[in-house]
Amino acid sequence: MSDTVLLDYCPKSLPSTCYLDDSWFKREQATIWSREWIYIGRQNSFAHGMLHRKNIANCSIIICCNVHGQLSAFHNVCMHRGAELCPGISAKMRGKLITCPYHAWAYADDGRLVSTAFATPTEDFDKSKHELKPVHLKTWNGFLFACLAETPPEFAPDLGLDALNNWPMSDLVVGHTVQKTMNCNWKVFWENYNECLHCPGVHPELTKMVPVYSRGIMSKQEAATWDGDREGRNLREGAQSWTVSGMPCGPEFPNLTPEERDEAHRFVTFYPTAFVVAHVDYARVVSLQPIDAESTLLTAEWLFDPKTLAQPNFDLAHVTDFATGVLEEDATACEWNQRGLRSPAFKQGRLMPQEFYIHDFHKWVLERVSKDGSLVPSLD
Ligand code: FES
Ligand SMILES: [Fe+2]
Repeated sequence: MSDTVLLDYCPKSLPSTCYLDDSWFKREQATIWSREWIYIGRQNSFAHGMLHRKNIANCSIIICCNVHGQLSAFHNVCMHRGAELCPGISAKMRGKLITCPYHAWAYADDGRLVSTAFATPTEDFDKSKHELKPVHLKTWNGFLFACLAETPPEFAPDLGLDALNNWPMSDLVVGHTVQKTMNCNWKVFWENYNECLHCPGVHPELTKMVPVYSRGIMSKQEAATWDGDREGRNLREGAQSWTVSGMPCGPEFPNLTPEERDEAHRFVTFYPTAFVVAHVDYARVVSLQPIDAESTLLTAEWLFDPKTLAQPNFDLAHVTDFATGVLEEDATACEWNQRGLRSPAFKQGRLMPQEFYIHDFHKWVLERVSKDGSLVPSLD
């Protein structure tokens, strides 16, 4: 095939030390997680008039959602003597102010220091020099991302900014959340996400739902042969969405094209933090938070039109059980992989031509980690 995406050689994978060593993990925290856009939640899930505490790369930040729903973000630290502004998961704002719980210094929601409360500074104290340290925010389709870098990189989902324009994404609300600590490095999860060679062995239900996955491939570009008529639809005969029965869980989104309906699942990827899957009737966002070199918190949120959730006979488990099962299978496979990586008999693997997305991901990681000026391993 002329439009093949398969690699024409078998590159090396990353050495096992990149999945095990604390020093490598810290390099990634500094060069990737502290510099890229990181998903922190759905914009409409932040309650108004509240501070919300989040963690990025072991750095605590606060999202300030004022009474009008306008968002700003800062490092979670008071400029007086460095106490946390929001010691719990969330805190109520005092009117329009962010107030430190320790000695009550108060800041406006744009970070300006407004009051030093009971303390009266002398003239040498310039309030404008003690503003909160801001964190960049970006909203896309109702998803909120934060970036700790002073100059953030371009916000660039792999399928482009318009990929979900036909879905009413901003209106969708979280109807269900699953969290799981996976005993694997965060990169193991992305590697598993990036190939379907494991699908026939690991996903018995998913391969029935998406027949092409049973061939170990995800797309036309990977196939030696492709029967367009038979495979124009991604899902098995009679199925329209990723639910237990294959039936949609509510009204289908009205503005999708016939091709988008046949596609049935559009995956949009945001390294290193999350992917979104949009179906004809609902969507899902899966995000990662590395805990240490060998463990990662996975969060999956199911997003629905509020009208779908309000249906009198709405069966949430009928929707969520299917993808939860797939995620559990993937997490189990990731943990097999991580445990094997600890073996002294394994130092570095080789990728197959079908693992072109993984190779791209490895290059993406190394390009960033190398920015600290230290050596990175070779993949050749
Ligand atoms: S540390 Fe915040 S007011 Fe003192
Ligand atoms: Fe999988």
